[in-house]
Amino acid sequence: MTSMAEKDEIRYIDSGATPARFARGWHCLGPSAGYRDGKPHSIEAFDTKLVVWADSSGELKVLDGYCRHMGGDLSQGTIKGDTIACPFHDWRWGGDGRCKQIPYAKRVPMRARTRNWVTMEQDGLLFIWHDPEGNPPPADVTIPVMRKPGEEWTDWVWNTITIDTNCREIVDNVVDMAHFFYVHYSFPTYFKNIFEGHTAIQYYEGQGREDVRPPVKDGKKPKLLGNSSVAAYHGPSFMIDELKYVYENFTLESNLINCHFPISPDKFTLMYGAIVKKTPGLEGEAAEKMAKSHMDFITKGFEQDVAIWKNKTRIDNPLLCEQDGPVYQLRRWYEQFYVDVADVQPDMVDRFEFEIDTTSANEAWHKEVDANIAAGRVGSKLFS
Ligand code: FES
Ligand SMILES: [Fe+2]
Repeated sequence: MTSMAEKDEIRYIDSGATPARFARGWHCLGPSAGYRDGKPHSIEAFDTKLVVWADSSGELKVLDGYCRHMGGDLSQGTIKGDTIACPFHDWRWGGDGRCKQIPYAKRVPMRARTRNWVTMEQDGLLFIWHDPEGNPPPADVTIPVMRKPGEEWTDWVWNTITIDTNCREIVDNVVDMAHFFYVHYSFPTYFKNIFEGHTAIQYYEGQGREDVRPPVKDGKKPKLLGNSSVAAYHGPSFMIDELKYVYENFTLESNLINCHFPISPDKFTLMYGAIVKKTPGLEGEAAEKMAKSHMDFITKGFEQDVAIWKNKTRIDNPLLCEQDGPVYQLRRWYEQFYVDVADVQPDMVDRFEFEIDTTSANEAWHKEVDANIAAGRVGSKLFS
């Protein structure tokens, strides 16, 4: 028989509720070059549809996609001069959100104004600013520039997927040390987080699991000796991951972007992209090729996360052990983007540091991997 006291001790999941509002901050819409093809582009985001287009000077403009006249879809319209023309009755909307012309009307109604989104272009990427309070971006809320003068990088290799869950799931990854072993098949040997202001950083060093990716024997591929990663969210949705892969004969430096924007409270668009630094020995075609194969590798990593997210539940009260990262503190940091600026509390933005001691985890994991190798459970055999 189970006593009442024991019954009381059962832990139940509090799934909470997804927030009704969306985060304040810069949200990346991907490489800007893709929006300069002379056509309007449709983006589902923030519980509505947006239209993105380039005006005659090539400047990218973003407006609410639904025309304020009778609700037509501007992203199905045509770019005419500096305006986007609605396919329904040809009202012409400027990038400032004002209706500039209605060809069949004597004059434009005074209040013919729709929502225009503040945009920013940096490092070949397009960003829009979202603030439920309607304020412009403060000067100190910025995204660091990645490609410094004098450096040469490849073009962006970019991927987009839609994920049917609230976007907090992906942010949780920042502190999740143990999933690197189980989901991404690597040993995190060093793992530390720092949260401060609007940034949340994850420092990571690790090696691949030898039972999953047995070392290459043919000597054709260079052996990977280790990798390090400094991954930082700058605001609620844009992460720059500075990755270094140390191979026997060269070091690969790359910036991986992991960013997202919400479609609805239960759905988001995940975008990820990579650029690789061109260095002596890694130039031209070789660098571009490296960026692509690097991307395939990264894609697999995201697919591994997605498989988990697809099936898991939202959990507001995770039950943690000592070797887990600071999930609650990270979520407190994340909350700053969901409250009015006046309600941001010091504990959401104060500096917080936490390093996980990975020793006992690595001891256990090495035993597990060694046992797998000894039993011949390696590579694909491990999963069959
Ligand atoms: S609905 Fe757009 S012009 Fe009428
Ligand atoms: Fe992950």
